[in-house]
Amino acid sequence: MNHTFTIRSFVPKSFLITAALTLGVAGFVGLVDAQVKKGKSRPLTTGQLMKGTIKPHCEGIKKGLDANPADDKAWAEIALHAAILNEATYTLMDDGRCPDGVWADATTKAMRDGSADVLKAVEAKDVAAGKAAFGAMTRSCKACHDKHKEKDKK
Ligand code: HEC
Repeated sequence: MNHTFTIRSFVPKSFLITAALTLGVAGFVGLVDAQVKKGKSRPLTTGQLMKGTIKPHCEGIKKGLDANPADDKAWAEIALHAAILNEATYTLMDDGRCPDGVWADATTKAMRDGSADVLKAVEAKDVAAGKAAFGAMTRSCKACHDKHKEKDKK
């Protein structure tokens, strides 16, 4: 048994494995990061989509329902916000932006179904149902942010 040989051949091998793993993990994290913050080919960043579309239309639904919509115009305003949010779920899933099942579920279940249920509540002119649907829809924000949004960002 040649111990010197064993140790010599073991150390460089483990070093190589560690180096390969480190590079592999770094490459993987880089890929996931790119998908989360932006799609693969189109310019819109996830931050812009949140700030320009998701947040304002989310607030629009909340304000509209809190004000107890009094007429068709007020209900139509809520429908507009919900329909745009529903459509935004397709952008969130598109262009290689979606990294995993947490993202996909938050987007295609909580946000897509929740905004569709807001639209049903608008049809029925039912504020309570609208608020329940809004609550279910906004669970998507936390679900996705908990995993995919950096903690210092609001
Ligand atoms: C499928 C994932 C996902 C869902 C669902 C989601 N977000 Fe986000 N959101 C993100 C990510 C990722 C970021 C961070 C983007 C970055 O840092 O580049 C973000 C950032 C934000 C920001 C900060 C934007 C900025 O740069 O100023 C706001 C505001 C926001 N989200 C609001 C919402 C609201 C409101 C909802 C729910 C109605 C929601 N988000 C649902 C993924 C999501």
